[in-house]
Amino acid sequence: MQKKVKKAVIPAAGLGTRFLPATKALAKEMLPIVDTPTIQFIVEEAINSGIEDILIVDGKSKRSIEDHFDSNTELEDNLSAKGKDKLLKLVQDTTDLNIYFIRQSHPRGLGDAVLKAKSFVGDEPFVVMLGDDLMTDKIPLTKQLVDRFNQTGQSTLAVTEVPHEDTSKYGVIDPDKEVSDGLYEVRNFVEKPRPQDAPSDLAIIGRYLFTPTIFDELENTEPGKGNEIQLTDAIETLNHKEHVYAHKFNGKRYDIGSKIGFLETNIEFGLKHPDTKDELRSYIKKIAKTL
Ligand code: UTP
Repeated sequence: MQKKVKKAVIPAAGLGTRFLPATKALAKEMLPIVDTPTIQFIVEEAINSGIEDILIVDGKSKRSIEDHFDSNTELEDNLSAKGKDKLLKLVQDTTDLNIYFIRQSHPRGLGDAVLKAKSFVGDEPFVVMLGDDLMTDKIPLTKQLVDRFNQTGQSTLAVTEVPHEDTSKYGVIDPDKEVSDGLYEVRNFVEKPRPQDAPSDLAIIGRYLFTPTIFDELENTEPGKGNEIQLTDAIETLNHKEHVYAHKFNGKRYDIGSKIGFLETNIEFGLKHPDTKDELRSYIKKIAKTL
């Protein structure tokens, strides 16, 4: 019988150089969108997709991530004594989840970070979720991938349409057949092609579902670009052994791994947040007149 997807891996051991100096001593994944650390959105998406166990691959300067998902009795006692029940609930909501941690001692690339999850995952299908992308849709994107897996039993990556001139920022797929609405067989995965060489505008985004065979491929992948083990290289070889499908995501993607994307996301979420929306709207109107 086909195994259920119950495990997620969140690689969070990158150096976060695009956010220096903030990330010299602070985990990039703890930077907030309004008031919520970005990694919390990822964990919530996993839970809302039926994931039961989560492994976070972290590195140096990442202790704050572990503390965020732990209890903080001093803070909880203080909020409780002051009757701040809403805040208390917010603090307690991120504890008692099945979250595990492993260190990637040297940031040897995303492929190496995923390989650290081998014993945790064992012989089961699993998802990889990157904190650089926040996704919103009626059905969480991770759940969409799980639904595809339940139909096909094969690895499936999320892709989305990007502007043609941006293909060189992404892994891009060379789609073969569209086997059902928005689900593609893939001929090749092309890393960061120039627009004139790009086989499509369908770019890989930060959600992947893999069968455990990916670990065999990762173990046999030599360090590539930047002397890092590239996940895309292992996906390419996996696709020669098993099908790796691409699932087209039609919801909204927020690229919070870049400074501009991070600022835009904070503004959009701030314009929806009940504590900030009205004042932020007036502020933006006021400042727009001075530009
Ligand atoms: P990025 O390419 O965004 O790298 O990694 P980064 O170091 O986080 O950020 P910049 O580009 O220097 O600003 C994509 C994902 O892979 C993880 C990162 O934490 C991020 O979630 N990663 C990357 C690792 O866990 N380990 C690595 O060795 C590299």
